[in-house]
Amino acid sequence: MIKPVTQPPTPATRIEQWIRPEIRALSAYHVPPPDDLIKLDAMENPYTWPPALVDEWLETLRGVTLNRYPDPDAAMLKQGLRRALDIPDAMDILLGNGSDELIQMTNLAVAGPGRVVLTPAPTFSMYRIIATTTGLGFVGVPLDADFDIDLPATLAAMEAHRPALVYLDYPNNPSGNLFQESRVKAVIEAAPGLVVLDEAYYPYAGRSLMDHLPRYDNLVIIRTLSKLGLAGLRLGLMVGARAWLEEINKARLPYNVSVLTQVSAEFALRNKTVLDEQARRICADREQMIEAMAAIGNVTVYPSHANFVLFRVTEGRAVQVYERIKSQGVLIRSFAGSEGPLGDCLRVTVGTPDENKAFIAALRQAV
Ligand SMILES: Cc1ncc(COP(=O)(O)O)c(C=O)c1O
Repeated sequence: MIKPVTQPPTPATRIEQWIRPEIRALSAYHVPPPDDLIKLDAMENPYTWPPALVDEWLETLRGVTLNRYPDPDAAMLKQGLRRALDIPDAMDILLGNGSDELIQMTNLAVAGPGRVVLTPAPTFSMYRIIATTTGLGFVGVPLDADFDIDLPATLAAMEAHRPALVYLDYPNNPSGNLFQESRVKAVIEAAPGLVVLDEAYYPYAGRSLMDHLPRYDNLVIIRTLSKLGLAGLRLGLMVGARAWLEEINKARLPYNVSVLTQVSAEFALRNKTVLDEQARRICADREQMIEAMAAIGNVTVYPSHANFVLFRVTEGRAVQVYERIKSQGVLIRSFAGSEGPLGDCLRVTVGTPDENKAFIAALRQAV
């Protein structure tokens, strides 16, 4: 008998067989190379430290031993965070390699068949990506016309999908606004599972629900040092009741926060006045930037409580405006092609006054 000829597997057929279809359908988080463009696409603080502070930091690093693993609990750093960020004594702290990793750990701790994550839409794109990679379903509930939580729709979606996790971004990326506090509280009260309030932009909003943690036993808050001016360090923190954090901690890889991050973040927090002063300057410049943008015709500018500004251009022109701004040396973020109200929008990070001036000139030319 002649055996049927079976083709040897190729990488493509193996990938098709073994990589989950939902992962194959994903697009990886794309970070365009900055080349020598003015980088206003990633909500970074544009300022570095004064030279004397850099010297002092480098001196601190002399004492670091790289042959040993870091403190797995980062006890000293947690003390520093507690002091610098006014974290209530009754709450625990869990650290991540950026707040992205905390989102991943939280998802891993709840993931299971039929479980879903619910967020408003549009919001931070990693909530959807991490839900998919951790095997969770994802439900996005459109925000209302003011980019605020659509409470009836959100309550109905929570009733229908019973999400294990709800992520609320406060202020919301990419719209820049703070949701009404009463709506946030209504979502927390109705959620069947855990609500994660992501306060990544707290340094620019100054508003927080940290004091409300003792009142809600299904609320945790995440913050990051990235937006304050330490994006290169990769340090995020979750604050909440010990019972929740103990469980989520089980999904954390050992030694996830390097010794260089621990020592450098501790040092930076001891000198936080420098970072706070930079944040104040950025907030003042944000208002000037919004005013200058609003004075340009064919641009709708949204108010912001963060270090970025969302704006809308004439229908169908977002790609062209983005490319024209880029050709004048400024890199921002385009949402062209996104579903819903974001489709004609772009987002710009507040930079130094010179960078903002270059952006405004480029925008004026581009529209
Ligand atoms: C809302 C929000 N959360 C979290 C992050 C990620 O922060 P980290 O650098 O701490 O991973 C971002 C980054 O843009 C963000 O916008």
